[in-house]
Amino acid sequence: MSTAAATGAAEPVLEVFPPGTRRDGDGVLVIGGCRVDELAAAHGTPVLIVDEPHLRATARRYRAALAAAWPDAQVSYASKAFAATAMYRLMAEEGVWVDVAGLGELEVALAAGVDPATILVHGNAKGDDLIARALEAGVAYVVIDNLNDVDRLERHATREQPVLIRLNPDVAPATHEAMSTGGHESKFGLPAALARQAIARVRDAERLTLAGVHVHIGSQINDLTPFAESVRALRALVDELGIADVAVYDLGGGLGVPHLRGERVPTVEEYVAALADAAREHLPPGARILIEPGRSLVASAGVSLYRVVTVKRAAATFVAVDGGMGDNLEVSLYGQPFEAVLAAPVAPGARPPERCDVVGQHCESGDRLVAAAELPAPVIGDLLAVPVTGAYTYPMSNNYNGALRPPVLFVGDGEHRAVIRRETLADLVRRDVR
Ligand code: LLP
Repeated sequence: MSTAAATGAAEPVLEVFPPGTRRDGDGVLVIGGCRVDELAAAHGTPVLIVDEPHLRATARRYRAALAAAWPDAQVSYASKAFAATAMYRLMAEEGVWVDVAGLGELEVALAAGVDPATILVHGNAKGDDLIARALEAGVAYVVIDNLNDVDRLERHATREQPVLIRLNPDVAPATHEAMSTGGHESKFGLPAALARQAIARVRDAERLTLAGVHVHIGSQINDLTPFAESVRALRALVDELGIADVAVYDLGGGLGVPHLRGERVPTVEEYVAALADAAREHLPPGARILIEPGRSLVASAGVSLYRVVTVKRAAATFVAVDGGMGDNLEVSLYGQPFEAVLAAPVAPGARPPERCDVVGQHCESGDRLVAAAELPAPVIGDLLAVPVTGAYTYPMSNNYNGALRPPVLFVGDGEHRAVIRRETLADLVRRDVR
């Protein structure tokens, strides 16, 4: 048991767990009213625990902040952050639209019962199958990213389809280069010259209606300045292109989230206020504003729970768990730092703190979840919890080294339900042709 749990003092690291996360008297972590040792006993590890009331609360915060800031506005969830039936249903129940970026996401959203009139379709390589399905379903907007999109839209439209044009604002925020999408060298969006051609073609097309414009400058952006700058740049492009008559301004997503104790990142309210201030300065008062948060809607609700499999005291203390880059690629791909805490001591007694590298089970040195974590000297069987893993973990999970993708549990008010089951060994050969 940690000293903090023993004394009842607040444990600083719990600030990056879902609100209400606490320790039971015996030191076991309790998330959404559920003891993690009981969740692990029932569902195994690794497991992704998602605090459902916190997810809903974040969706409501976004909606309330946006409604207070701008008369005609809509939150649309960038579902790539966590595209699953339960998540689509939850967002629909909370009055949040959804963005999809591929045929698979569109099919899952439709199968989950999302109203097509609340779906936006993105992608820089939309095939005929995606465009045809989107048009047939009757989605709210298809977002044009290239001239080939226009060809396909013309080919498949059988009735009027509103579209947005994704513009390249040439705004590059400070984030990992793989997550920066607004610079002029980006593969996303149309620079002015190409946008002009796309607009002319949409205007000429019998069944396409130019409803508005879109920008998205990147992800895990912890500074509000580039967002405001992107709104200014968007307006300048709209004027340059002579399309000031469009109503819809989709300002994209990209707000970062804190992953570490003490880390300060703008809140949802501060982010929405910054966008609204920029909109008041640069956009027409009658504009319809859309925003597309992904990470900042879902990340903080997720906690990954692992079990310690081996402990090796060599160049460092390597604490290896039963997951890793199979269920969380954020470290390997972007160097994202995370926290790790002992979630369920098997033998609580007094354990000296030890500096540990929490590593995964995969055959790569980059498969490390947390460097230099301070943990009570770990032993095999300990449960470790890694918070802020609700975004871009589940959808990017994989079978490297034959890992089975973990189940997802929604927890809340002391109840839990599996919304995605664990993959099985049988799943691993299901697609193999024998
Ligand atoms: N809108 C568009 C058009 C996007 O491409 C994205 C994210 C979003 C909205 C949502 O951005 P967010 O609010 O989640 O930052 N794989 C990376 C993240 C890539 C984000 C891609 N686009 C990761 O694992 O962190």
